[in-house]
Amino acid sequence: MVFFNRLLLAAFNVALVSGLALTPSMSAGRVEKRTGTSFLPPDALARAMDKKANPFEKLKIEKDGTSAFTDVYEFAKQIRAGTLTWEEIEKNDMDQRLKFVGLLHRGKRTPGKFMMRLRVPNGIVNAAQMRFYADSVEPYGPELGVVDITTRQNIQLRGVVVEDAPAIIDGLHALNQTSLQSALDSVRNMVGNPLAGIDEAELVDTRPFTNALNDLVSLNPDTNERGRPQWGNLPRKFNIAVSGNRDDFAHTHINDIGLQPVAHAETQAMGFNVCLGGYMSIKRTCEAVPMNLWVPAEVNVVVALCEAVLRIFRDAGARGDRQKARLMWLVEAKGVDAFREEVLAEMASYGVDPSALKIPAQPRDRRPYEGRQGALLGVHAQPQAGLSRVGVHVPSGRLSAAQCRDLADLAEKYVPGAEMRLTVDQNVIFPNVNSDQVGALLAEPCLNTKGGGTEGGGVAMGGLSVAPGNVVGHVVSCTGAQFCGLALVETKNNADRVARLLDGLVELDSPLRIHWTGCPNSCGQVQVADIGIMGAPARVKDEATGKMMAVPGCDLFVGGAIGEESHLSLEPFKKGVPLDDAVLIPELLAIITSQFGGRLKDKKEAAEAKAPEAKAAPAAAAAAAAAAAAPKQPSKAPKAAAAMPSKRHPLSPQRPW
Ligand code: HEM
Ligand code: SF4
Repeated sequence: MVFFNRLLLAAFNVALVSGLALTPSMSAGRVEKRTGTSFLPPDALARAMDKKANPFEKLKIEKDGTSAFTDVYEFAKQIRAGTLTWEEIEKNDMDQRLKFVGLLHRGKRTPGKFMMRLRVPNGIVNAAQMRFYADSVEPYGPELGVVDITTRQNIQLRGVVVEDAPAIIDGLHALNQTSLQSALDSVRNMVGNPLAGIDEAELVDTRPFTNALNDLVSLNPDTNERGRPQWGNLPRKFNIAVSGNRDDFAHTHINDIGLQPVAHAETQAMGFNVCLGGYMSIKRTCEAVPMNLWVPAEVNVVVALCEAVLRIFRDAGARGDRQKARLMWLVEAKGVDAFREEVLAEMASYGVDPSALKIPAQPRDRRPYEGRQGALLGVHAQPQAGLSRVGVHVPSGRLSAAQCRDLADLAEKYVPGAEMRLTVDQNVIFPNVNSDQVGALLAEPCLNTKGGGTEGGGVAMGGLSVAPGNVVGHVVSCTGAQFCGLALVETKNNADRVARLLDGLVELDSPLRIHWTGCPNSCGQVQVADIGIMGAPARVKDEATGKMMAVPGCDLFVGGAIGEESHLSLEPFKKGVPLDDAVLIPELLAIITSQFGGRLKDKKEAAEAKAPEAKAAPAAAAAAAAAAAAPKQPSKAPKAAAAMPSKRHPLSPQRPW
């Protein structure tokens, strides 16, 4: 009966609002905000309320995610007044619903503390915002109060408590940023070209697109406030990436909607080929499939396209098995052609000029192109005369409050508008630096300290640097066990430490991308890495008892690729490797020397190479000796790719362009 009443109420809500008004109803001068659920048509609502619906659907129906927009203020007020403690907040609110304001309770590792995820379209931040991040996390101390750059060109603040959240949310809004709808079943941060506007190989400036798309999903047109209920009850999370060049720094192939720039073959007008459904998960990982559609690079058309896909996904997406709720499953169920026709009809209904629609995917530029993976770090001349960009390495993407301020200081001193760009490789770029001032920038003390990084579990990471090693500079890491309850292993500190160790032992002619991820969810995207290290169970023999015992371990992946010729490495190259330098380092050196053209440094030098921690040094020496036996491979090209299982989805047996 309760269920029936709820359904009736919700259906009434839908009928009332969708029948009459797309604007909020006004009563006694108050703007009634709609809930996310009120946007669901009756059949989607029925599926969300069906007994086969997954627990998250029930949770979203019982208390709408968008109600967290205001509840977080109430919780904070009560905690401040001493009438509530965080432990008394309902568990579902604490652990799930607050994700709709970007607050993720890190209850297993740091009870009562949250990670706060922002939205940073195109990864563009300024000094004022950087300082605000520092001010926000500093009160939580050097270990908990850190700032992470994520693989969606995004920012995550750590250590946040509920009573401080409203001030941070308000502060972000004052700085034209938000944390709203950045987690759970929401559209995630808009990824674009980190070199937008300063790119010698730019095909499309992605900034207007990522900004407009960010507004599409997070700005309420009725109230002009952040938080958009229209997308407040999606079946699952949703990723969009807009690429601006052939390098595809935005990684379109692993997003639900990927926009790949290509000129129209006849008119030469610039536009995007659209691909759909890329995602990774424990059960399944697939590269996006081509939609066989080209759209002109016009903001209104791209926004209409994404809105149409989102609307169809919201209303028709699966709400049963959560493993089958991502966009790809809907595209597969409908078929690419039928899905495309539905999207086009929807776009036409929004008033998009029909001549802009029904244009098949356009041929890719096949002329030889030297990809620039790895070239986001260091000093590079810009197409604008007299200006340079300077990419700064941030160890494992983690910044202390002091480092945030250092970056803000440098941006204010050297960059017009005090702007910075975040990259999906978790680093920072200073754009538009006067080339005459590059020398002074490079000499700044904060870019030349060996240590000084964040301290997690007592391990200090390396400092900020413009010229890190070929391994250190290209590490990507998920959060791992320090904060994430799902992690099987510690990642960020290990990632930086192991990379420093490897750079001391092996020489490489080009960057080597090592990705770490703490569990099979693969937020650190091991499948696109040259070498991926995924937390996994491992066993070793206990010398005392002779029995096998469980130890922290990892599965190794080899041969993923990004860029134009992207490739997902789906199967582990080796499983159950103990996360112990004495075992892991030789394994990695063998892969690096045999498959990536790595050359062991002088054996004596290698044996003497100092690990960042004294205790790791013997392991380094042992590793060098063990790896000396590894077969040498002169080419720098990874050899593993050819041996990996095909990345192609059955819906895209080959690229049609
Ligand atoms: C059901 C599967 C997944 C779960 C439960 C999960 C869980 C999480 C959690 C708990 C965090 C935050 C950890 C922290 O920083 O404290 C996180 C972050 C993140 N995850 Fe996942 N994850 C899943 C799958 C994925 C996949 C497949 C990807 C893409 C390859 C991904 C990409 C990310 C990214 C990029 C972040 C950083 C935040 C951002 O910029 O949006 N996740 N994930
Ligand atoms: S991959 Fe696993 S450990 Fe790493 S952030 Fe995602 S859920 Fe946490």
